[in-house]
Amino acid sequence: MLEFIKGTLHIGNVSATDLAKRFGTPLYIYDAEIIRRQIERVKRAFSALPFRPFYAMKANGALSVLDLMRGAGFGCDTVSPGEIFIARKAGFTPDNIWFTCSNVSDDDLRAIGDERIVINVNSMSEIDRILALDLRNPIALRVNTDIGAGHHADVVTAGGGVKFGIDLAEIESARMIAEDSGRKVVGLHAHIGSGIDDIGPLIESVRRLLDLSTDFPNLRWLNFGGGISVPYEPGKAEFPIDDYGAELTRIADRLLRARDLTAILEPGRYLVAESGTLLAQVTSRRISRGQWWIGVDTGFNHLVRPSKYGAYHHIVNATSGSPASLRQTFDLGAMAEDVVVAGNLCESGDVFTRDEHGKTLTRRIDRTKIGDLLAFCDAGAYGFSMASLYNARLLPPEVMVDGDDVRLIRERQTYEDLVKGMR
Ligand SMILES: Cc1ncc(COP(=O)(O)O)c(C=O)c1O
Repeated sequence: MLEFIKGTLHIGNVSATDLAKRFGTPLYIYDAEIIRRQIERVKRAFSALPFRPFYAMKANGALSVLDLMRGAGFGCDTVSPGEIFIARKAGFTPDNIWFTCSNVSDDDLRAIGDERIVINVNSMSEIDRILALDLRNPIALRVNTDIGAGHHADVVTAGGGVKFGIDLAEIESARMIAEDSGRKVVGLHAHIGSGIDDIGPLIESVRRLLDLSTDFPNLRWLNFGGGISVPYEPGKAEFPIDDYGAELTRIADRLLRARDLTAILEPGRYLVAESGTLLAQVTSRRISRGQWWIGVDTGFNHLVRPSKYGAYHHIVNATSGSPASLRQTFDLGAMAEDVVVAGNLCESGDVFTRDEHGKTLTRRIDRTKIGDLLAFCDAGAYGFSMASLYNARLLPPEVMVDGDDVRLIRERQTYEDLVKGMR
């Protein structure tokens, strides 16, 4: 939990200033208690169903995060051989891993490496290649249920004009091609997008998958994907996860039990976003055309969501801030100044306060001076996992806080790392 004690932000029971002194900035910090809270919310909401939660590790692939998920009984959704490799390192056994394909190469398919991993196929062309390579893995079909949703066009993954899934019109042919070769289609899958606030589209997609399932005799799983949102902005409602669980149970439970099927959900963001804080230091204050700009020692190389999607991340002064500045208890009237917050990369788009069309916005925060720490909140999902080496800035370290306990879970990169493997 984030709270202010005597003006300093605390994560778990640890002060942000102590963390910055010990590990430097920029720094990713995850609060294990919040991850556990989210895990429990997922388990509770769907507990009436024959249900198995999976974790979409693309949201945050740190081994320590994966360890929490595995320990809580989650399976792992992977999307590349690299993710499979990390999942195995984290102790997930092959029968607890799904590999969801997207334009994978033959090398990718060969690199799966274990016949127990479910291959969740994205197109007819991938089925052909699996047959040509004579892979014997259980097959699931990713269906484009024609219902898409999400916080930004780039993360809507079903409906027209997206690269994902087998169209409803083709799905019967896909089943026949796979099963005529002696393989079994053990799963149907639909992931319709990310950052979805409303259960409406999720439930509609579930209905389509349920309808379709009657044509598949060998099913063991129905995987309804991820997509559950978190409230990034002050005043935004929590996703009604218990309503989602109740409605899913109402429409799916009977069919699942009658056919001895297990429902899977594979959330990423919902499990980890709120646990994460990116801590950075204020390096400059600049006034331009009457507007204050605050510069920090990180950029879109470490947290790309504001720059890429115009996504909102709540920002607080962690060195000398107030409870009124926290998202959960935000009081705009109590904040001192309107600022633009920008990073240290050589690009004008390196701004943390912008809208989805790239327009620079201001943010009202507690007064800030050079050397203060700024916390970018709710950065645990698609933060580090989307980080890049742009401008040859080092990837930040990651720390897990659990009450009083603090553990370094990934070291800061070194300059030598930047040239490793280069000739
Ligand atoms: C196939 C698949 N499953 C699950 C997820 C997780 O989505 P979210 O983090 O919105 O729950 C994604 C994200 O893109 C995905 O592509």
